[in-house]
Amino acid sequence: MVNINWDELGFSYMKTPFRYLSHWKNGEWDEGSLTEDNQLHISESSPALHYGQQCFEGLKAYRCKDGSINLFRMDQNAKRFNQSGSRLMMPHLPEEKFMDAIKQVVLANHEYVPPYGTGGTMYIRPLLIGVGDFMGIGAAPEYIFTVFCMPVGLYFKGGLKPTNFLISDYDRAAPVGTGAVKVGGNYAASLLPGTEAKKRSFSDCIYLDPQTHTKIEEVGSANFFGITKDNQFITPTSPSILPSITKYSLLYLAKERLGMEAIEDDVYLNELDKLSEAGACGTAAVITPIGGIQNGEEFHVFHSEEEVGPVTEKLYNELIGIQFGDIEAPKGWITNLTVEK
Ligand code: PLP
Ligand code: COI
Repeated sequence: MVNINWDELGFSYMKTPFRYLSHWKNGEWDEGSLTEDNQLHISESSPALHYGQQCFEGLKAYRCKDGSINLFRMDQNAKRFNQSGSRLMMPHLPEEKFMDAIKQVVLANHEYVPPYGTGGTMYIRPLLIGVGDFMGIGAAPEYIFTVFCMPVGLYFKGGLKPTNFLISDYDRAAPVGTGAVKVGGNYAASLLPGTEAKKRSFSDCIYLDPQTHTKIEEVGSANFFGITKDNQFITPTSPSILPSITKYSLLYLAKERLGMEAIEDDVYLNELDKLSEAGACGTAAVITPIGGIQNGEEFHVFHSEEEVGPVTEKLYNELIGIQFGDIEAPKGWITNLTVEK
């Protein structure tokens, strides 16, 4: 077994032994294979470097009580990866190839999937970049698809303890731009606002709709949800937020398992009083309860700044119970991998 202090993992890069690499050239993907080399060798003129022609995904592998490994809804990541790629004129990647690469990488690095009960997970990062010798603004002549992984702990410190977020004056995406796809440019745009928020001791910022700045969109790394005082699960709808797989899972679980009304609708900043609980949700964020939101001079507190709200906690337990294999999953949500001893 590898020598890692599982309880002290944060959300940082760690070089694990194997990653998957496949090249696209002359209209087709090569076979692809695992490699131990964690350096990419690419042309200095690669469009990914100059014009941001790249997209990525994020998903996790979970160690179950019986030692097997669960992957959560990776078919959804495969679909979103292609939506992101096609928005930036990158070649289609067959979903089977995407999922096969993930399985290969997780199994090759299985010793790095944290043990059940530590709270740690393995974060998997698929990445597609436009490469090759090319200078004008246009689609790259070649592409690299790679998948690597690392064990991680919490993304937002505190876990289920509520934290505070700051309403940003900046936009992360344009109204009909690339906000709904997972491309690096959105994250580059959120670096400065996010850093400024963290300097002021907020976990991150919350972006408003770029058109009117009156509605909540999302966090730079997660979607937003609220629980209304009449027990409805509500999450913003907008063409410029990332369609979070966790968010869609929670919409389903709130309705089907908790018997709540669950909707996507506008969440107006001046109607936060309607919410009794709020949270950020995503693969890295899991469910992070939001204690309060700073908007200019005003600070709005939800359920409590100290303890997680009851509905948020129920949703969290249902979600992670499914991910770690302790609660029966809706059909098709889990791919279980058995590790050869
Ligand atoms: N929104 C943004 C901007 C993100 O980076 C993420 C993370 O992937 C999410 C939302 C959550 O999406 P998902 O639940 O699919 O991980
Ligand atoms: C994820 O949750 O997978 C993300 O991509 C968020 C962040 C680490 C960029």
